[in-house]
Amino acid sequence: MFNLMIVKNYDEASDMAFKVMKDYLKPGKVLGLATGSTPLGLYSRMVKDHEENKTSYAEIKTFNLDEYVGLPVTHPESYYAFMYRNLFSALDINEENVHIPSGMAEDLEKECQEYENLISKAHVDIQLLGIGSDGHIGFNEPGTPFDSITHVTDLAESTIKDNCRFFENDITKVPTQAVTQGIGTIMKAKNILLIATGENKAQAVKDMLQGEVSEECPASILQKHDNVTIILDEAAASLLK
Ligand code: PGA
Repeated sequence: MFNLMIVKNYDEASDMAFKVMKDYLKPGKVLGLATGSTPLGLYSRMVKDHEENKTSYAEIKTFNLDEYVGLPVTHPESYYAFMYRNLFSALDINEENVHIPSGMAEDLEKECQEYENLISKAHVDIQLLGIGSDGHIGFNEPGTPFDSITHVTDLAESTIKDNCRFFENDITKVPTQAVTQGIGTIMKAKNILLIATGENKAQAVKDMLQGEVSEECPASILQKHDNVTIILDEAAASLLK
């Protein structure tokens, strides 16, 4: 069941997302976090709220969706670096409560299994999601089984192109694989908050909300989740009937 909100633009979407997220910024909560351009506005609001209202993250746990294979945490485009740069460094979060899969583990299969076990035990209270222009959630590209758990995946050609902007627009610098929570992993979160803005997401949003539930549009599985909040700006909602 969807709780759908359509707002004017990215800033309003970020304000709305913060309102939803605020209820979970409490001791003992487990946040599922995401990277990319979409959550930046929400993260800046979380930082501002921490600074102004002293909201504490000392007893909050976080689990990220994914990480590129082959990028060390010191690489500025690793999702580890992204999370510290845009959120964690400004909060009082406990490093041991932060979980981001490693894309550098010698045994990636073991890394995936261990990550999956940790998430299963933690019970994510709210999972934040963006959506790819191809309908992916996390790095679960079209065709990924709905019951997938944390795994290593190849990035779709369209995702590599979309993410090129973070790698000096040089397609050869974009990693081609990632470790990602599976769709089954994401679906276990108690609540989901998906934000999509911009025209580039309009078709994926339409397929997610009004298309068939199909592995061809990974996000369409959210039609089967009981507690999903979707925040769209007008451009991302422009193809909805
Ligand atoms: P974006 O990516 O927020 O950078 O648009 C979203 C996604 O790929 O899930």
